Amino acid sequence: ALLAAGAAQAADYPDHVINMVVPFSAGGPTDNVARSLAEAMRPTLGQTVVVENKAGAGGTIGTSQVARAKPDGYSILLMHIGFSTAPSLYKSPGYDPKSSFEPIGLVVDVPMTIIARSDFPANNMKELVDYIKANKDKVSLANAGIGAASQLCGTMFTQAIGVDLLTIPYKGTGPAMNDLLGKQVDLMCDQTTNTSQQIKAGTVKAYAVTSKERVPTLPDLPTMQESGYKDFEVGIWHGMWAPAGTPKPVTDKLVAALQAGLASPEFQKRMAGLGATVLADEANPAALTKKVDQQVPQWAEMFKKAGLEPQ
Ligand code: MLT
Repeated sequence: ALLAAGAAQAADYPDHVINMVVPFSAGGPTDNVARSLAEAMRPTLGQTVVVENKAGAGGTIGTSQVARAKPDGYSILLMHIGFSTAPSLYKSPGYDPKSSFEPIGLVVDVPMTIIARSDFPANNMKELVDYIKANKDKVSLANAGIGAASQLCGTMFTQAIGVDLLTIPYKGTGPAMNDLLGKQVDLMCDQTTNTSQQIKAGTVKAYAVTSKERVPTLPDLPTMQESGYKDFEVGIWHGMWAPAGTPKPVTDKLVAALQAGLASPEFQKRMAGLGATVLADEANPAALTKKVDQQVPQWAEMFKKAGLEPQ
């Protein structure tokens, strides 16, 4: 009887509002992607998708909330690369990247940018590195906590140049950007989905992008490779998940809605404007499974090599 009731619920899915959890603050890069995506998935689902910002602990609080949620398709997660880094950065991240979720699909890939407050003395990457090395006790680096993309990129950067900086953790790079604009913090490595507008407006200084190629919407910004850091490349892939045990007919509908959403011209236009690449061909469970299977051990290995112990 329980099974029959479950099947009937799956057949009616969705008959009310769906909650999409973003594990970072409102007004930041993940939130920007999620809000556009929620809108783009709505026509297929015939229901509103509401974004809930459940921020904290580098994204692990919101992610583990969805891991524990009722597996009925009304709680879904929009998270990024941090999904695969946090399990080796925390002793108890609150979820298992393999067993806690049903993967729905990949969403977008977003380059990062190394930026500073607008009155920061350095005007290019060489000046930036020289300045940091000469003033390492004074320079502060914002991030969104251990497990965040900004923390990953910031760590890669400080390791590449061989310095340790004071890091200031926020619940998302949305609020971190506010403090950068207010000149309360010096530097940040953050996604183009949060930094593009500020870079174009000149309200922050930008030094490089972390993608292999330049970003079409920020054509003047050199890559890290062009700047002399030839192995420095990182892209912030995003994925969508439902809690483990969500019935297959429900996840099938979410996959269909995700694929239709990514195909929508409005979503594509918004993402292109923010420097993001839409991963339409990988918007399926198999591609996301493959990504996670590849990324979790890759980052574990990299942190181990770097001597980073789980907290
Ligand atoms: C955010 O949405 O605030 C970011 O994705 C945080 C980060 O991972 O750096």
